[in-house]
Amino acid sequence: MHDRGVAMNGIAMKLSLLLLQVIPCTVALTSTGRLVTGNFHSSSQLYSSTASSSQASIAPTDSKTDRLQKIIHWRGEKEHGNSIQLRHYEFKSALASIIEGEQSNTDDTPIEPDISFTAALSSTFESANEMSEYQKDSYENAMQYINEENLSFSNNFDLIQETVQRCALVRSLFEIVSEGETFEELARNAIQSKNLNDMMKNGSSANLSWRVRLRQYGDSAKAEKQKQYGKKMRSPMKDEREAINQMKDLFMELAGPVDLKNADISLYIFEGLKDKKKVLARLLTRGANTSSIAPKTRICITNTPLCPLASFTMNNVGRVKNNFKVLDPFCGSCGILLATTMIEPSVQTVGIEIAHNGAVNRDNIMKDFSSRNLTLPAAIIKGDAMDKSVRDKARAAVGNEPFDVIITDPPYNIREKILSCPDSPLINLVKCIASDRKKEQRLLALGGRLVVFVPNMDGDDIAEVMPNEIALKDAGLKFVNMVEQPLNDSLSRWLVEYKCIA
Ligand SMILES: *[C@@H]1O[C@H](CO)[C@@H](O)[C@H](O)[C@H]1NC(C)=O
Ligand SMILES: *[C@@H]1O[C@H](CO)[C@@H](O)[C@H](O)[C@H]1NC(C)=O
Ligand SMILES: *[C@@H]1O[C@H](CO)[C@@H](O)[C@H](O)[C@H]1NC(C)=O
Ligand SMILES: *[C@@H]1O[C@H](CO)[C@@H](O)[C@H](O)[C@H]1NC(C)=O
Ligand SMILES: *[C@@H]1O[C@H](CO)[C@@H](O)[C@H](O)[C@H]1NC(C)=O
Ligand SMILES: *[C@@H]1O[C@H](CO)[C@@H](O)[C@H](O)[C@H]1NC(C)=O
Repeated sequence: MHDRGVAMNGIAMKLSLLLLQVIPCTVALTSTGRLVTGNFHSSSQLYSSTASSSQASIAPTDSKTDRLQKIIHWRGEKEHGNSIQLRHYEFKSALASIIEGEQSNTDDTPIEPDISFTAALSSTFESANEMSEYQKDSYENAMQYINEENLSFSNNFDLIQETVQRCALVRSLFEIVSEGETFEELARNAIQSKNLNDMMKNGSSANLSWRVRLRQYGDSAKAEKQKQYGKKMRSPMKDEREAINQMKDLFMELAGPVDLKNADISLYIFEGLKDKKKVLARLLTRGANTSSIAPKTRICITNTPLCPLASFTMNNVGRVKNNFKVLDPFCGSCGILLATTMIEPSVQTVGIEIAHNGAVNRDNIMKDFSSRNLTLPAAIIKGDAMDKSVRDKARAAVGNEPFDVIITDPPYNIREKILSCPDSPLINLVKCIASDRKKEQRLLALGGRLVVFVPNMDGDDIAEVMPNEIALKDAGLKFVNMVEQPLNDSLSRWLVEYKCIA
């Protein structure tokens, strides 16, 4: 059982191995037939996992035209404030960004992807009465069905996967292979559907390793598990073994080797999803690997580093795409720009930071990029972004052109004490954008976006720290959207999006 590197291909052995999942951590087989095929998405390298977490790696699929029902498993439930609105905002912005990129559409019509989500979990089961309203809400929104039939684009299949791979607030994306009342029926329907034919003999994924997991929700699950909002819902081994055994007609058809740890393809049996009995699903892909830029993994960090989830979300709201020029005028240790280059390696990034090298070491920032094989910033400039000569340097670093997007978490006095000044850093930044625009040396390109966080303490008027109508007009900006992210009982931050329209 401790034989690593042994491939098990005999049907009986394969099944017995699956049933051995009772002690998953001691069983680790590497498939010798492991083959990474061209079916993998190009960016899967960046996001795919070597980890042995309960979620496994990217599954290749044959057809781009089939539209099996997809389920999205959101992330961010641990932090208060990663609301369903914020998750949808990130997802739709990322999707719009990809569509805009593919259409290279030059007119100014904003892209609003016609996609919606409906709850895949319900808290109507008995033990849910013990959950708080917040817990119930988080639980119900943990997983959602994707309604994409009205998305007017030909290859939705790749679109959704690409979108998921750049989103921080998505844990994983599944497609439903079959449904059934019983496990036997689930297996039978899966065979009849041919949705797993690529994993069977002569199929394009026949050589790929695979595994199966059972996840139980609602009435099907143990009460105490529900509070985890869908995360780590690993079910009792006994139930898992029983389910797999009842579905063996299907699993015996799958040609590749079983691999419990690093399977190429992960299948899931879901019990207790809303409006469904039993579901067999295939893991398609996973959200962005935000942990690879977690502050604790970086050489350079500031006192109040932005959490990596927020860095990714801001970049998605900024609709970062191919060859974009991206500016963070209050870059700190460049947490935002690290996420930018993970999402889109072809970007040119520039950071401006006023703090001296003792507090924010530029060489260490560069190392944080290079050690991750990320595209280096075009420049990290020491200076005050409110100073025109500093902005000139920033423009010079990207060929004296305006930036396609400005993404920043400015130092307001609430989070980090800096010199107190009468206007908020956001208001000052908008004044700079206006002043450069008047001199015909735009900081932000026409059509570009400004994405910022604005903190708000309970009782304070947020309008006081945001630019008013006149200031926006001077800068050629239009307010687009703002979504609140509560940080604790008295402090929120708002993610605010402006677009340059004139
Ligand atoms: C994320 O990236 C880190 C560092 O590159 C890596 O160790 C980890 O396994 C990755 N996690 C996932 C889930 O891919
Ligand atoms: C798709 O469009 C049709 C026609 O407008 C509408 O009836 C239907 O509800 C839409 N579906 C979704 C999931 O939005
Ligand atoms: C697999 O391919 C071989 C050779 O082309 C063929 O003889 C065999 O019938 C195929 N098997 C299945 C299950 O399609
Ligand atoms: C799977 O492996 C076999 C034996 O190595 C090889 O003949 C076959 O072409 C492979 N199939 C695919 C789809 O790569
Ligand atoms: C970076 O690239 C080098 C050379 O291609 C490779 O050896 C190294 O493992 C990569 N490092 C990371 C963190 O991906
Ligand atoms: C909320 O967070 C802020 C900033 O970290 C802190 O100053 C404040 O005391 C916190 N308030 C509560 C009620 O926890």
